[in-house]
Amino acid sequence: MFDLQTMRDQLAAHYDLAPNPALAQEMSEEYARMKRVVAPMDWAIHAPYVAAINALKKERNAVILAHNYMTPEIYHGVADVVGDSLQLAIEATRVEADVIVQCGVHFMAETSKILSPAKIVLMPDMEAGCSLAESITAEGVEEMRRRYPGAPVVTYVNTTAEVKAASDICCTSSNAAQIVGAMESDTVIMTPDQYLAQNVAQDVPHKNVVWWEGSCIVHEQYSAKDLREFREWNPGTRLIAHPECPPDVVAEADFSGSTSGIIKYVTDEKPEKALLITECSMASNIADSLPEVDFVGPCNMCPYMKKITLEKILWSLHSMSEPIEVDPKVAEGARQAVQKMIDLSQKLGI
Ligand code: 13P
Ligand code: SF4
Repeated sequence: MFDLQTMRDQLAAHYDLAPNPALAQEMSEEYARMKRVVAPMDWAIHAPYVAAINALKKERNAVILAHNYMTPEIYHGVADVVGDSLQLAIEATRVEADVIVQCGVHFMAETSKILSPAKIVLMPDMEAGCSLAESITAEGVEEMRRRYPGAPVVTYVNTTAEVKAASDICCTSSNAAQIVGAMESDTVIMTPDQYLAQNVAQDVPHKNVVWWEGSCIVHEQYSAKDLREFREWNPGTRLIAHPECPPDVVAEADFSGSTSGIIKYVTDEKPEKALLITECSMASNIADSLPEVDFVGPCNMCPYMKKITLEKILWSLHSMSEPIEVDPKVAEGARQAVQKMIDLSQKLGI
């Protein structure tokens, strides 16, 4: 368990982390990427952490891989690579640094370690989990295999290494339909996200997609009725949903895609008003690069993603904690499932 006070005392002994308006001014280039969403007073608080992290990254030969749901000061201030789950997994196979700091949730760090076993992969907060990863174990995968004999198991990357190792191939929200469509069998098991599976089932009607009953606590909160009402009161707003939302929500939306798919859609289309039906940081992270788009609420926060803060990233690099370890046998099985996904995605041009 994390002792916050000890961490703060030790950091204060090594770094000058007091709010610093002069440093914030010096770092105006970084601030320019987030000034629509981060107040100047908050930037004066963040700037000393951003400066300390970026200096320490060089010292440790470390890179920061950050998911699109990280807050703007992480996304624009310290990340070397940002992306969706597929892009981060691919990047983990290419990174040349000695250390990877994974800013995202635990399964993402585990995936990086599986793909780059010789590297030190650090997780700034081990408690940054995921409701989907927690919803299934390797026994659950075996139970599905017993229920649907001979059907391949396509497992979402939002799972533990044990679950990946028990599966045939992984998928992410950006390649799920194509991976399922490429399976030879008529029946395909998808775990653990029931809604992603139901959305995929609509895209590949020639397959009998069956699913585990897991769900994302962020995306399951949206309802089609909310979207309809929102549209009535806010005509002209483009509604853009992540495929972890229930299928009737996705059906009400104008577009659905992975987090990077959403960013690409908004960047290409530049709608006057957009409602991103996903995690809150998504809109904040692209607000400055798209001044012509009015991002309207509401959004939902992922409590797991929000466990990652600048303070914990600095501590992680300072103390080299916590390193991710995966049992080598489990890691090999999981690596095969993830690598198959990467290879198939590249073959399919995703
Ligand atoms: P993406 O692969 O679309 O980034 O999704 C990851 C995730 O956890 C969304 O909730
Ligand atoms: Fe998991 Fe949902 Fe959070 Fe993504 S948004 S990490 S799926 S709980």
